[in-house]
Amino acid sequence: MAASIQRGRLITVEGIDGAGKSTHLPWLKELVERSGRQVWLTREPGGTPLGERLRELLLHESMAPLTEALLMFAARREHCEREIWPRLAAGTWVVCDRFTDATYAYQGAGHGLAVQQIADIDRIVMGGFSPDITFVLDVPPAVGKARLADGRTLDKFESEQAVFFERVRSSYLARAAAEPERCRVIDSTQSRERVRAAIEAVVLAAS
Ligand code: TMP
Repeated sequence: MAASIQRGRLITVEGIDGAGKSTHLPWLKELVERSGRQVWLTREPGGTPLGERLRELLLHESMAPLTEALLMFAARREHCEREIWPRLAAGTWVVCDRFTDATYAYQGAGHGLAVQQIADIDRIVMGGFSPDITFVLDVPPAVGKARLADGRTLDKFESEQAVFFERVRSSYLARAAAEPERCRVIDSTQSRERVRAAIEAVVLAAS
């Protein structure tokens, strides 16, 4: 009898803009690879041709918060159905730069959409699916802003004021506190080595 394939895990990385995700994501992919697993690195909004087109609109066009949430979830459903779920079923691990927590944090806390409304859409679109492990890279908004100031033009979200990012950050921290099994908050003002050591301990424990 053929051995059954062990389902892969979905690891997501969250945080306010400038929290340091891009510094750690390729390394995290390699970390999982080194443990002998197939791994796919992806991002939201995005990860599919349609998702990437929606990303262009979402990051640059002004729209109502509900429209924004609906497009985020449309991109997410496409991403899951075409890419993430088949890979997890085949035993591949998926590392995703942002996922559903970002919609609660940005469209909910940031742009004022009611949490219950997001939860209703989440239930209809995702049917209760959520990541296995979520890292919240935590920095104060001033630190995030300084890290973004690298000369390039900022997108719609990155251009928000510090009070917006205070709300987004609080939402992430509250969600992490409510789901301690899934979420790990990591102080991302620490050195790169310390952040990585904290991530590595969690990933290796999950293997
Ligand atoms: P990135 O800059 O981390 O690639 O993410 C793109 C932006 O999209 C980021 O500013 C956060 C925002 N975003 C939301 O507002 N809601 C979401 O559900 C997701 C996935 C991202």
